[in-house]
Amino acid sequence: MDKFVINGGAKLSGSISVSGAKNSALKILAATILSDQKCIINNFPFIEDTNNAIEILRNLGATVDVDKVKKMVIVNPVGINKTSLDSLLVRKLRSSILFAGPILAKFGQVEMKHPGGCVIGKRPIDLFLDGFEKLGAEVEFIDDGFRLKAKFGKLKGTNIFFPQITVTGTETMMMTAVLAEGKTILNNCAMEPEIPALADYLNKCGAKIKGAGSHTIEIEGVEKIHGSYFDVIPDRIEAGTFVVMGLATQSEIKIENCNPEHLGAFLPILQKAGARLEVGKDYIITKPSQMKAVSVVTHEYPGFATDLQSPYTLLMTQVQNQSIVHEAIFEGRLFFTDQLNSMGANIIMCDPHRVVVNGPTKLYGKKLTSPDLRAGITMVLAGMIAEGTTTIENIYQIDRGYENIEARLQKLGVDIKRITS
Ligand code: EPU
Repeated sequence: MDKFVINGGAKLSGSISVSGAKNSALKILAATILSDQKCIINNFPFIEDTNNAIEILRNLGATVDVDKVKKMVIVNPVGINKTSLDSLLVRKLRSSILFAGPILAKFGQVEMKHPGGCVIGKRPIDLFLDGFEKLGAEVEFIDDGFRLKAKFGKLKGTNIFFPQITVTGTETMMMTAVLAEGKTILNNCAMEPEIPALADYLNKCGAKIKGAGSHTIEIEGVEKIHGSYFDVIPDRIEAGTFVVMGLATQSEIKIENCNPEHLGAFLPILQKAGARLEVGKDYIITKPSQMKAVSVVTHEYPGFATDLQSPYTLLMTQVQNQSIVHEAIFEGRLFFTDQLNSMGANIIMCDPHRVVVNGPTKLYGKKLTSPDLRAGITMVLAGMIAEGTTTIENIYQIDRGYENIEARLQKLGVDIKRITS
């Protein structure tokens, strides 16, 4: 297992470019199944999660050509000859559930193991199964998984009201309804930028989707869709994490190739806390700032993103006063704060959803283990501001979402190296 070793204390300078969004690329890969022709994806992030998603497509029979230099992937779904998802790959990638809808829509059936829980919370799939049933699928539970079959050979348009806002649930039902007969209306949809991006891609392929990016999405089913191309949108979570990195290290750095509008409530909250930021159309520059504590509650887009909660919690350990961080979406996403406390932070857990952060505190290098992707990158940031050496184990979790991260950070002046064992 690889690990990172970071010597803290360096001031950073220069610029860092944001990669294509993991949580957009994964959905486009799944959507390619619906097409009858090749699909070209540009600005593609080559990370563990997208590599596993490519393996899922190949295992189904699709041809996937990758060009890492051009950051391009070409998927030809024509050879797909299987309707059951490989169980090992399904276990590796929680978002493998995204592939079930397009297979069901195109081939009338699909079978997969339950994608399982993960450390950030239970991650149930009840809203997916309810949606598939409403679209006319029979759900049969089999040996730690499920089989879906379109009752009349083909899915039928319907009305779906999500009792709880779900990002991949919204995306899955939108993709599944593209080839259903008649009109589907999705209500109480998630509005994350990856959703209109997916709709734009599908519409370019010939789908008829209206309203993506709002709470109501209408999909007029079509017989088939063709291939197209897509430029993956910039990763808003990576951009937000780099903003925290600049602020927490009191450095002036330029975060390039991002879309600040996609950060929703995040930048206004940082500015309220005293962050000095220059925000352009596609860049953000951080400046050394005297910040004070501001409490936050994570919320669906455009609220404060749960995926930015962990770096923000770290930032609050470095500013004056007390804040409450309320993680409203996932029940397991604050446990990493134990490890920040081992470095010298003063964070009190009230319950699994809430912590009180007392700042400022000096952090000291420690041996840490990355529990999940977002907590893992936060530990990298903590290592940068700590005195001494920090070692982070289980960095597979960081590689799941951040491409070639150590090389990109080294260019800014971070003393980080990967130890491969
Ligand atoms: N939920 C259910 N039943 C379901 C589906 C969801 O109860 O069938 C609950 C979840 O347990 C959670 C809430 O609904 O409490 C919202 O979860 P959502 O379905 O929106 O999360 P997701 O679609 O599984 C995506 C991102 C996550 C991000 C969340 C919230 C992808 C691949 N994943 O997950 O990203 O945290 O939305 O914005 O898009 C990450 O990138 O590190 C990550 C975890």
